[in-house]
Amino acid sequence: MKGIICAGGSGSRLSPLTDVTNKHLLPVYNKPMIFYPLFTLINAGITEIMIVCSKEHTGPFQKLLGSGRKYGVNISFKVQDESGGIAEALGLCENFAAGDNVAVILGDNIYEDDFTIVVSKFKKGATFFLKKVPDPQRFGVPVFDNDKIVDIEEKPTVPKSDYAITGFYIYDNSVFDIIKGLNYSARNELEITDVNNFYVTNASVDAHFLSGEWTDAGTFESLYHASTIARQISISGNIERKQAGISREQISITEIDFA
Ligand code: G1P
Repeated sequence: MKGIICAGGSGSRLSPLTDVTNKHLLPVYNKPMIFYPLFTLINAGITEIMIVCSKEHTGPFQKLLGSGRKYGVNISFKVQDESGGIAEALGLCENFAAGDNVAVILGDNIYEDDFTIVVSKFKKGATFFLKKVPDPQRFGVPVFDNDKIVDIEEKPTVPKSDYAITGFYIYDNSVFDIIKGLNYSARNELEITDVNNFYVTNASVDAHFLSGEWTDAGTFESLYHASTIARQISISGNIERKQAGISREQISITEIDFA
C-alpha cells in the first residue's frame, strides 16, 4: 500500500492566512497541519508516501519534512500546477503507485483513529470513513438505502444524511483508470466524489464509522476546532502513557511527534 497526501489547492477560504503560505503549513495546536495526515499514514504502517503540493510551496514542504528519514519512511513530492481538485492530484501519482493500492488522505484532515488494521486487510474496491457531523452540507454526504451507500452527494444544500465522507480513502489500483474517465466539474476540478461514486455504482465499497475525533481544517472555524482536538488528543495521550508507565523514551518517533 502506497500513501498519498493531497496538499495542493490555494486555501482561499483561509485568506489572508494563506496569502503567503500554504494552508497545510499553518499551525494546528503545536504542529504544522501536514504533520497530522502524515502521521496518520505512518502510524498505519505506510512507508512510501507522496505529497502532492502546489508549485509555489514545494520548497517549504521539503524543508519541513526532508526525505522522511527522520520518521523512518520515504517521502517524495509531486507538483500540482493548478488547483485542479483532489482527484487530479491523485491522478498524478499513478507512476508512484506502480500497480499498488493507495491510501489517500487530504492534507487538512485530522484523525484520532488508527487505520493499521483496515489498511493491512484491504484487498480491492474502495474503503471510506464516515463521521456524523452537525454541518453535512460542507462535505461529501452518503445517501443510504438501509445500511448500504447508494450515492454520495458533494456539498448538498439539503443533505440526505448527517454523515460526512471524510478525507481518508483507500482505493485499489483501478482508481487511476477511473480518474482518466472523469470530466472537470463546474468549479473546474476533478472531484473525488465522482471517483467515489464510480466505486459505489460499479465496484465494492466498504464503509467504516470513525470512533475517534475527526475534523477538516479548511475554514477558520474548523481550523480553530482542529487545534482544540489536537490539544485534547495530545493531552489524553500523554495521560494514558503516564498511567501505563511508558516513558517518552520508549515511544516511537511518530508517536512522540503526535503527542
Ligand atoms: C473535500 C471533499 C469532500 C470531503 C471533504 C473532507 O472537500 O470534496 O467530499 O467530505 O474534503 O474534508 P473540500 O474540503 O475540498 O471542500
